[in-house]
Amino acid sequence: MKCDIEIFLNDIWQKAASFELKSPGETRKGYKGAGFFEYDLDYALAHLNSGAVDAVSCLYPVSFEIQRLSCWPSFLLDILPAGANRRHFLNELGMPNNPQADWPLLMKGGGNPPGNIRIAQAAPAPLNRTAHEGFHYDEVIGRAENFIEYAKKKNAPVAGSSDVQGDAPKFLLTQDRHGRFHADGALADHLAHKHWLVKFPRGKNQSDRDILRNEVAYFFVARSAGLRVGQEILFDSDALFVPRFDRKSTGKGVIRFGLESLSSISDISGFGVSVPMERLCAAIARFSSNPGVDIREFVFRDILNVALGNTDNHARNTAMIKYTDGSVRLAPLYDFAPMFLDDQGIPRACRWTGAEKMGMPEWGKVAELLKNFNTEPKRVREEFASFAETVRRLPEIMAKCKADQWLIHRLAQRINEVRISLEQAKPVIRM
Ligand SMILES: Nc1ncnc2c1ncn2[C@@H]1O[C@H](COP(=O)(O)OP(=O)(O)OP(=O)(O)O)[C@@H](O)[C@H]1O
Ligand SMILES: [Mg+2]
Repeated sequence: MKCDIEIFLNDIWQKAASFELKSPGETRKGYKGAGFFEYDLDYALAHLNSGAVDAVSCLYPVSFEIQRLSCWPSFLLDILPAGANRRHFLNELGMPNNPQADWPLLMKGGGNPPGNIRIAQAAPAPLNRTAHEGFHYDEVIGRAENFIEYAKKKNAPVAGSSDVQGDAPKFLLTQDRHGRFHADGALADHLAHKHWLVKFPRGKNQSDRDILRNEVAYFFVARSAGLRVGQEILFDSDALFVPRFDRKSTGKGVIRFGLESLSSISDISGFGVSVPMERLCAAIARFSSNPGVDIREFVFRDILNVALGNTDNHARNTAMIKYTDGSVRLAPLYDFAPMFLDDQGIPRACRWTGAEKMGMPEWGKVAELLKNFNTEPKRVREEFASFAETVRRLPEIMAKCKADQWLIHRLAQRINEVRISLEQAKPVIRM
């Protein structure tokens, strides 16, 4: 029971490492099964000491060592089908949803995830010479969630288009230079122009559609508030089109940037774990090439999470991106939406230890927690206090960004509470 892990580096997929279960019986435990992780000898020889970008995970620098692990390495959980994608592959495998399905799911659905690593056994078959002509935008919108099924019926290759995590149904598409859409992996790299993640409402409720529609407004609000976002997202007929920041088309080929969730870099081999915010900051501090800037960005994103009711701030909703210049940085913001509207009632997932009451952080206390990361609490308090003005203006900014009016009203009190807490963080000047 062994999976081979490939990495896309220097324009090609290459075998980099493997993870082998200790015994076949470990499959029963799912991702809690023990095993051995090691780099491929040739890969290790060629990439030893070449930095985080050549490694399959920040936690596992390239080496000759065999690592004995009591459960799967956390980076494999970024690739393991989850959410809507898990339901899709369980259906394909005809398996019930239990831990025993994890290994077959990894081997089936880990072939084309965002980022630059994949499971070799799950990788899409090499492309046919005759490429499919692709689909028009209207066909994608018209078929919505059923687009991939539709493309399959039209004999277009679709393998790899579903290999993305998250609760909401979604698929990966690549647009060619003529604007036509293809399932991701169905188009040769030199023909690719732009890469998209297309996301649909999580369920059939009105609130699911409200959340997705307002994700667009939230993107623009985040940008107006000075946060780091990717290229503009767009919403059409209940489908959210998100340009992928882990891919760049060059005309000659495609660059794939590594992507690793904060959950993975924090060594968490689990799902739905409520990781303390300061632990996530510690992981950013450890691996970012610019920890000061990235921790600040992460904390300010959290201010908006609280003010705008993005309660689903779990550790897989933020990632590090690995650039080809060797730097590792906090990836642009994604999955930023009014999740408090969800009918299932999503509580705030990650919190500041000892600095929050009922999901409402006291920003002065957060400033004190942050001093463990080389920050000067007084300066952080001052920054919080001056950000209070941006927070005060959020209703106005939201309106400009076309958030729903009723949503702005529902958030008004919350926004005000966050503003007050930020103002109270202001350092006291003693005479
Ligand atoms: N712009 C992007 N570029 C590259 N990868 C992305 C981008 N946006 C999201 N992803 C990847 O796709 C995954 C799923 O996207 P997203 O988090 O938006 O879905 P979701 O279904 O709303 O998730 P959740 O279950 O957290 O609600 C993310 O965890 C991330 O790995
Ligand atoms: Mg998500």
